[in-house]
Amino acid sequence: MDNRPQWGTRAGFIMAAVGSAIGLGNIWRFPAVAYENGGGAFFLPYLFALLTAGIPLLIMEFTLGHKYRGSSPLSFARFRKNSEWLGWWQVAISFVIATYYAAIIAWSLSFAVFSFKQSWGSDPEGFFFGKYLKLAETPGDIGGIVPGVLIPIILVWIVTLGILIKGIKKGIEIANKIMIPTLVVLFLIIVVRALTLDGAAAGLDAFFKPDWSEIANPKVWVAAYGQIFFSLSIGFAIMVTYSSYLPKKTDISNNAFITGFANSGFELLAGIGVFAALGFMADQQGVPVNEVVGSGVGLAFIVFPKIISEFPAFNGFFGFAFFMCLTLAGLTSLISIVETFVAGIQDKFNVSRNKSVAVGGGLAAFISILFATKGGLYLLDSADYFINQFGIVLAGLAEVILVGWFAKELKTLQNHANSMSDIIIGSWWRICLGIITPIILGYMTIQNFITNFK
Ligand code: PHE
Repeated sequence: MDNRPQWGTRAGFIMAAVGSAIGLGNIWRFPAVAYENGGGAFFLPYLFALLTAGIPLLIMEFTLGHKYRGSSPLSFARFRKNSEWLGWWQVAISFVIATYYAAIIAWSLSFAVFSFKQSWGSDPEGFFFGKYLKLAETPGDIGGIVPGVLIPIILVWIVTLGILIKGIKKGIEIANKIMIPTLVVLFLIIVVRALTLDGAAAGLDAFFKPDWSEIANPKVWVAAYGQIFFSLSIGFAIMVTYSSYLPKKTDISNNAFITGFANSGFELLAGIGVFAALGFMADQQGVPVNEVVGSGVGLAFIVFPKIISEFPAFNGFFGFAFFMCLTLAGLTSLISIVETFVAGIQDKFNVSRNKSVAVGGGLAAFISILFATKGGLYLLDSADYFINQFGIVLAGLAEVILVGWFAKELKTLQNHANSMSDIIIGSWWRICLGIITPIILGYMTIQNFITNFK
């Protein structure tokens, strides 16, 4: 009936959705967020957020894409009149994220190579900021291009756009079917090694020890919802786009449960691995675990190189494995973000896939060169801050209101999902979308405005 490309298998779709979800957020964001928000007690709000926002929104986005068979702008346009803008807004956010996400993957790729010779020496901090990024002295100074960063960025884009050009089944699906199992195996090896190091138990203890006094703190609940949104790639146009390539018959709700739990499972594994490793480092230095905890860029490119250097054996292999994990987790997410605008351009202007990859992907690649400059890290921080504070939450809020508050349209989606799923969704789903999630996202939006403009 339509000539939209399709996934070859259901497993292929799930692998791609999981590939998008599992990213840097799982490896360097989740462990620290959980630790700072009540440790073991964080799992309660986290699970609540997964069941009231994560999975319901995944079901909604999967249904939207599957029913209206379009990129996010086209699906929203078909869903309700005057709604196309929301799709473009999400696409715009994805575009910006893609430009800097590519830079972080490029660093990981470089560090995978550096691992063999432990190029960071005994001072990973100085190496990362000074020798590798050649960071500018002042934040405002963009400075020149740093070739050592530019080359891996170009490589990342060649791989990503090369996969996208090949299309859904032969490109994205095959890439995910190779990269995700490789990632999981490599990561498991690292986790097992970390768990058998001295100090691992103390690390896990610090991670899992519940601080129940935190549970009444709204900040903890906000963190849980924030983590679920970012980690499951919801509100970014991604899951709508990916599900538009599903075959006519597929179990939508089941797909959403599998994706949600697979992502959280990996997140938990990452928490265990990261904290076992931090426990080892604390043990080596003779300090308590809380003194070595970090997240983000610092954790990945400064703390981990230090930890890996202290491994008793096979440091080169473990360093390579860890940074390859970051690279693979990042690549499968980058592919999914870029696909949102590739598909958006294709649907809107009726151009071939090759053209839209060349124009959309090419433009994003070109802009990401900004992050290969001496001021790149500062630019990246500001872009990320801005997107996190205003892009993601607001777009998510607009989405739940637009879908959750219009009873007739919501019912259409519900019937569509139920017509082809073993799991039947009903009032739980409608209450989560129409009431619980808008309240939480509304609260987060207000908080963000207060902290930024007071
Ligand atoms: N879900 C990815 C992660 O956990 C992040 C991501 C966000 C990917 C937005 C694509 C788009 O890291």
